[in-house]
Amino acid sequence: MVTVPHETTYQLLRNLTSPVVAVTTGRPGKQNGMILDSAVRASIVPSIPRLSVYIHKFNYTHDLVFEAGVFVLHLLHTRQFDLVRRLGFVSGRDRDKLADIPHHQGALGAPILDECYAHFECRVANVMDTGSSTLFLGDVVGVGYGTAAELDPQGELLTATYFRANIPAEWRQEFEANLQKAQRTAEAMSRDIRPVTWRGLTA
Ligand SMILES: Cc1cc2nc3c(=O)[nH]c(=O)nc-3n(C[C@H](O)[C@H](O)[C@H](O)COP(=O)(O)O)c2cc1C
Repeated sequence: MVTVPHETTYQLLRNLTSPVVAVTTGRPGKQNGMILDSAVRASIVPSIPRLSVYIHKFNYTHDLVFEAGVFVLHLLHTRQFDLVRRLGFVSGRDRDKLADIPHHQGALGAPILDECYAHFECRVANVMDTGSSTLFLGDVVGVGYGTAAELDPQGELLTATYFRANIPAEWRQEFEANLQKAQRTAEAMSRDIRPVTWRGLTA
């Protein structure tokens, strides 16, 4: 077996990150949104559309998704760096992050951001514990395009590689500090993987 430095492995794993997306959840009065790059299509069956996301347990959105059982995933455009900063650099525990971000209530009761390329409304179908995060499997029950797609139909989707290469210089230090803090917290939690049953499956 070849032993490689952890940093090499980490950089190789970055090839498996998803586009940078916004995830919202909750209901009017108790709602929130965050950014993640751990989304993946989870079904090839057109009549049973599914996707999955990994959300760290220490993020406020994590508990709200468990509580609401629904979430909305938004594909973003490369022009939406500001949204990434507003949802992905601070926690909704400290402020109402959606207060000044235009949104409307979707069919599942969760907020849908007006400005995005497209959104997927999801109902949680199952969960898996990873120690530091939960993998939420979502049944896609609704989709739609946002204003970003209407304003700029040729616009590029915001990939993780594009984000890391083009993050404004004045944000980079804060981004790296947030990442390192999350890595330290996740490291302490990652080995404690527990069986978890999604309540929707037990009913
Ligand atoms: C580019 C980017 C990618 C991120 N990817 C993830 C991710 O995959 N999973 C996760 O739990 N947090 C991820 N985050 C961090 C959360 O968005 C961030 O901790 C956020 O402040 C959580 O907000 P909340 O506490 O209101 O839920 C990412 C942040 C950025 C900027």
